[in-house]
Amino acid sequence: DPDEVVPVGQRRAWCWCMCFGLAFMLAGVILGGAYLYKYFALQPDDVYYCGIKYIKDDVILNEPSADAPAARYQTIEENIKIFEEDEVEFISVPVPEFADSDPANIVHDFNKKLTAYLDLNLDKCYVIPLNTSIVMPPRNLLELLINIKAGTYLPQSYLIHEHMVITDRIENVDHLGFFIYRLCHDKETYKLQRRDTIKGIQKREVSDCITIRHFENKFAVETLICS
Ligand SMILES: *[C@@H]1O[C@H](CO)[C@@H](O)[C@H](O)[C@H]1NC(C)=O
Repeated sequence: DPDEVVPVGQRRAWCWCMCFGLAFMLAGVILGGAYLYKYFALQPDDVYYCGIKYIKDDVILNEPSADAPAARYQTIEENIKIFEEDEVEFISVPVPEFADSDPANIVHDFNKKLTAYLDLNLDKCYVIPLNTSIVMPPRNLLELLINIKAGTYLPQSYLIHEHMVITDRIENVDHLGFFIYRLCHDKETYKLQRRDTIKGIQKREVSDCITIRHFENKFAVETLICS
């Protein structure tokens, strides 16, 4: 029997080796697992591509319209990623069907209570406090998206307008949270203020403004950002 030839001490050493090896592998699996978990935790739970149809303002004003019903509506389509654990919504608006608004990436961070718009035409970032009456919380938005997934379009809706004015340059975006940092860290970044909160500002040319149309609720939002 070859086993009997191996001295006991050597056999014990071999056993220790095995034990260390196994412990080492186990530690590797656990660390690797933790690493992967952290990596995937920063991945969105799901990505939704969907759209919203809203009735044009001028149609509301000039009702009744002789237009074909389809001509009364405009659409916005976008990608929505929801990071439920981090309470963050990431929205990506591609180049729109009509060239009167800009493609953009948008972060709504409910933890930091901030919204950041990255205008993809200008490659500039704009940051403003999160308006929770416009942006649905991540969990609710996720529920809404899951419910409409079959149709891919939200029920017909309307458009609201927000008017923002660019104020100060933000030199350092480190303290604005991981998601806004990732969006804006290598871009020129500015603060925004709602227009109606600034007193005595004169009416500007709309040519000084950019428009981003998006939705993160049951209605569409047109954000006008003016210098
Ligand atoms: C949020 O948006 C609504 C609708 O535009 C507006 O009436 C309200 O003043 C905004 N709230 C804040 C805190 O900006």
